[in-house]
Amino acid sequence: MKKLFVKDYHQLSLTAFDLFLQEFQDNPAGTFGFATGSTPIGFYQRILEDHALYQTDYSNIKTFNLDEYVGLDEHQPQSYHHFMRHQLFNPLGIGREQVHIPKGNAEDLQKECTRYESLLSSNPIDLQILGIGENGHIGFNEPGTTFESGVHITTLKESTRQANSRFFDSIHEVPTQAITMGIQNILHAKKILVLVSGSSKAPILKEIFHHPVTTKIPASALHHHPDTTFIIDEKAAVSLS
Ligand code: F6R
Repeated sequence: MKKLFVKDYHQLSLTAFDLFLQEFQDNPAGTFGFATGSTPIGFYQRILEDHALYQTDYSNIKTFNLDEYVGLDEHQPQSYHHFMRHQLFNPLGIGREQVHIPKGNAEDLQKECTRYESLLSSNPIDLQILGIGENGHIGFNEPGTTFESGVHITTLKESTRQANSRFFDSIHEVPTQAITMGIQNILHAKKILVLVSGSSKAPILKEIFHHPVTTKIPASALHHHPDTTFIIDEKAAVSLS
């Protein structure tokens, strides 16, 4: 795994944007895997700034998201559908037909997992963007998830619900389950870019790089991927030597 060290969150967002743009320019009809959470917001803002300046045309890309909360309607502000539409897709003019996000309110969730799995197998992801959870999760693959996992329903760890409660009025409103790409789906992406910012990620980053690969640390599965780049800011890098 490659590590790129940058000064701060601003530099991390710019570096992610540069690498994304290179990939996009090589492949303007590519398939891009996006993440939600706080970390990619600065990177998404750089994409929007560039689009506003140069009218960069994203009308031929396809997008896939990692995950969605179970039980949330796509119009609810905390849903990842809503997040992506507002942070990225609407301002870029990316249409619904280009966008793929698991449906957290599907009537039959198992069927929804199968549907998303088959979409992913017919649309291999060229570049997957990832953040990591403080417990090492990628997507919503919590510690203990097998590396062979495909799209599945997962029960969120209390620590994950706590960390994400900042987006809700109270912890009680944070869903207990999510539908997520599995680790195997993530590892099938041709390239992976992992954005890691802030001191809260320092301990898990040390585990990822200094401990053997283990299902206890889902992000350690990325050691098995041939083309993964971590972009790490100074605060996240403090425990790496
Ligand atoms: C988001 C996702 C999660 C986040 C992770 C880090 O779609 O799948 O794995 O990337 O929880 O979140 P932040 O960036 O908010 O620290």
